[in-house]
Amino acid sequence: MIPPNKKPYADYLNAVLPRPKPRADAPLALDLFAGCGGLALGFEVAGFRTIGFEMDADASRTYAKNLHGECRQVFLEPGQDLADGADIIIGGPPCQPFSVGGLQEGSKDRRNGFPVFIDAVTRYRPKLALFENVRGMLYANKPYLEKIIAQLERLGYTVEEELHNAVQYGTPQRRERLVVVAHKGGWEFPEPEHFGYTAGDAIGDLLASLPENPKFLTPGMDTYVAKYEKASKCVRPRDLHLDDSSRTVTCRNLNGATGDMLRVRLEDGRRRRLTVREGARLQSFPDWFKFEGAEGSQYNQVGNAVPPLLARALGLAVAKYLELADDERPAPKRPPRQLALLEHA
Ligand SMILES: C[S@@+](CC[C@H](N)C(=O)[O-])C[C@H]1O[C@@H](n2cnc3c(N)ncnc32)[C@H](O)[C@@H]1O
Repeated sequence: MIPPNKKPYADYLNAVLPRPKPRADAPLALDLFAGCGGLALGFEVAGFRTIGFEMDADASRTYAKNLHGECRQVFLEPGQDLADGADIIIGGPPCQPFSVGGLQEGSKDRRNGFPVFIDAVTRYRPKLALFENVRGMLYANKPYLEKIIAQLERLGYTVEEELHNAVQYGTPQRRERLVVVAHKGGWEFPEPEHFGYTAGDAIGDLLASLPENPKFLTPGMDTYVAKYEKASKCVRPRDLHLDDSSRTVTCRNLNGATGDMLRVRLEDGRRRRLTVREGARLQSFPDWFKFEGAEGSQYNQVGNAVPPLLARALGLAVAKYLELADDERPAPKRPPRQLALLEHA
């Protein structure tokens, strides 16, 4: 149920994440590993121009069609020329090398994108650099995260990091991200907003009718899911609970018919997997944002994205930071490393 003082969720998304129209003189953000542009959408809405850099053709097309900025389809490597005039560099290097669901090979994984990110910051010296990644960076690869931070500090930045949960910024999904910001003094992380839209608020209207080609669970899948839940000692079946926020939306649980797949139980008792639009709503993409490519590619773009509502909160905080003139910036204090504290947050 949506409380009377809250707009219906889809209307809320349209209101706070309208199609971006940044001013021609707006500050420029280079968005590395840009995906379909979830992070960029939040920053454009917060008043930035963006240029995305992304290797996947479908994701690049999605970005270019929906956002104001261009997306250059490119395989990023250290040493490439990107674009001059960047005020900030943002990005979400691939999380697979750090995810607890993977091998956590970190810097040894060939997909590690941090050498590209650090190289770009070294060469373009933006006023601020921000990257996000999975909480898993605080575990087996924490020494590598500390190296990344030390490199940014050697470039003259003060570096602060915090775990943020998208659910605290209006997203009807529990999705934790480690956000690391390299700045020149005067940075403040956004305050959580504690909203409380539920999964039912987000997709209830879409459940009233059947989508094209609904993906109902077969009896074989029901058995598979039941075994998975027993083996993983689930107290509550992992169907989407409409009165609560969703568990984390990923490429895997949207795209694959696995024991962990995201599915919803309909009023008639049948269960079906989520559509791309339902996944996108749980990620806080407004309905005007359309995904390019085949269905599997669209699921991946949605599952990979930073929820635009979280991105918007970060973008607004960066816009506020940029308003400070250089001589107004508080002397950069070297904050005590908070990684150990964050682990218990
Ligand atoms: C976590 S996703 C980024 C999501 C994005 N920030 C968003 O909010 O939508 C990482 C992206 O990096 C891209 N990628 C991985 N390695 C790359 C490389 N070497 N060059 C360019 N893109 C790369 C992947 O295709 C994927 O779309």
